Amino acid sequence: MKIGILTSGGDCPGLNAVIRGAVLKGVRIYGQHFAGIRDGWRGLVEGDVFDLEQRDVRGLSKVGGTILGTSRTNPFDGNGGTESIKATLARLDIDAVIAIGGEGTLTAARRLSDEGLNIVGVPKTIDNDLSATDYTFGFDTAVSIATEAIDRLRTTAESHHRCMVVEVMGRHVGWIALHAGMASGAHAILIPEQPASLDQISEWVHEANDRGRAPVVVVAEGFIPAGHEHPHAERGLDTFGRPRLGGIGEQLAPEIEARTGIETRCATLGHLQRGGVPTAYDRILATRLGMAAIDSVVGGVWGTMVALNGTEIVHVPFADATDVLKTVPQHRYDEAAILFG
Ligand code: F6P
Repeated sequence: MKIGILTSGGDCPGLNAVIRGAVLKGVRIYGQHFAGIRDGWRGLVEGDVFDLEQRDVRGLSKVGGTILGTSRTNPFDGNGGTESIKATLARLDIDAVIAIGGEGTLTAARRLSDEGLNIVGVPKTIDNDLSATDYTFGFDTAVSIATEAIDRLRTTAESHHRCMVVEVMGRHVGWIALHAGMASGAHAILIPEQPASLDQISEWVHEANDRGRAPVVVVAEGFIPAGHEHPHAERGLDTFGRPRLGGIGEQLAPEIEARTGIETRCATLGHLQRGGVPTAYDRILATRLGMAAIDSVVGGVWGTMVALNGTEIVHVPFADATDVLKTVPQHRYDEAAILFG
């Protein structure tokens, strides 16, 4: 059997470890052959593939990014959809596909599977927002990078008696903010799931400052302060009615400074959180998921994704992973909030 592998959507530390795990187990245990599909669904639509051999994956578990390349191409968005992919697979003699990706990728994979393709999924996102898996690889790395960055930002803030706002990734959910904020002892953590007003944020900042600390506010990029639910967005203005310049961290910093009188700076960590070597935890999780994906292919368990359940790797239907995002539950936020201020 010839198995195609693709990585799609935003990249994520651990993607190469998945590829390595799948190829090594697939070749050594099952005697399978592999095709590397370039740049996600684009490569599948256009037939841009290469023979993926054991030697190509040597030493890969510690390498960030993806040797396959990635893109945000959606196969159903004017790209031919199922029929064109089926034709490409037949032409290239590829019998099955392992799609490694986040919610968008797995939703496309689910539809392709429903329409008859032999496809299995591997969940990927630094955001950790996919249901049906306890953790996604890449999350631990992103949290470690963000935590180290916040630790560093704290010492400069302390030297200058400043407040520091640190914006981390998380468009829809606040897992990275929650974990990095808890790990680094942030005085406020702001996430999309939890409303917090500017008054409340200023109060937390004041409390920390009154105790002689340099206040640290960790904010997820998708956070919107209570009472400012994008009234100006459609006019190209930011949350506070000014020309949109930066993310929520950049927008919040001057508001905090104006309300508290404490000099405030912002650091936006951005794609730093997605780059570089994966942590040991992510390498192991990603490798195990890759090996389990090959088991799914060989067992013909189509239309499923591999997932982490406790300490075990399990196989779950695509539907379980794509129907709802895994948000931060109230009790996890309340637990962290005990430490604010
Ligand atoms: O979904 C992963 C993620 O890293 C989000 O946290 C972030 O909002 C987005 O991707 C950034 O995407 P891009 O790399 O396309 O700017």
